[in-house]
Amino acid sequence: MSQTNPGGFRRYRYFEFIETHAGLLGVLIAIAVSFGGLAEIIPLFFQAHVVKALPGVEPRDPLRLVGFDVYVREGCYGCHSQMIRTLRAETERYGHYSEAGESVYDHPHQWGSKRTGPDLARVGGKYSDDWHRQHLINPRSVPGGKDSNMPGYPWLDNNALDVADVQARMKVLRTLGTPYSDADIAAAPQVLKGKTEMDALVAYLQSLGTALPASGVRTASTQAAEVAP
Ligand code: HEC
Repeated sequence: MSQTNPGGFRRYRYFEFIETHAGLLGVLIAIAVSFGGLAEIIPLFFQAHVVKALPGVEPRDPLRLVGFDVYVREGCYGCHSQMIRTLRAETERYGHYSEAGESVYDHPHQWGSKRTGPDLARVGGKYSDDWHRQHLINPRSVPGGKDSNMPGYPWLDNNALDVADVQARMKVLRTLGTPYSDADIAAAPQVLKGKTEMDALVAYLQSLGTALPASGVRTASTQAAEVAP
């Protein structure tokens, strides 16, 4: 064919070479296609850093940080999500839909999708600390909770906090972008002294989702909790 196209002879030889070597053709196709992928993926790396904490969303203090660890250890995410979707049924029940800027300090995030129990993204402030303690010790003992199938976690009340590794944990989180100061880290073991795992978990739950409004909807159990002594 080169005879019919003398001017394009050299260029044609490249094409012919590539097209008759399937392996090379495959590699070059992969490189060409990857440009499309890179154009989509690379901006996402920068976007992760563009997401900033919402006003009112602060790095967890040591007690809430350890409470977060207890939440993860006990597998609460197996029954509870922390992700309110932008659907009316969800926002009416739980409050403002979840925003990315609310979970910038969660490592790992607890969004989840399994909801045997209700979403907990805005449970902070919904109940008193005492309600949470009683509910966590025995979910069937709170007003309106007699049919709950949530397990009890009574041992949390007896477990002293393991303060040995909180500083290492905070240092690691700092490398991931959580702005803990040296003073925060130095003071952490002192803050946790004398606290139980229950104290930490309740403090964590009470901090959830308070940067944006929760729904005003009252459930049977919240109403009962409000009138309970
Ligand atoms: C086997 C599933 C299951 C597990 C595991 C579980 N829960 Fe629940 N949770 C439920 C169910 C069901 C309810 C609703 C009934 C009730 O209030 O007890 C609930 C309710 C709650 C509520 C009240 C939410 C509201 O808005 O009324 C909180 C707070 C809560 N759970 C925290 C936790 C924590 C913290 C853990 C882990 C230590 C946990 N749950 C583990 C099933 C579970």
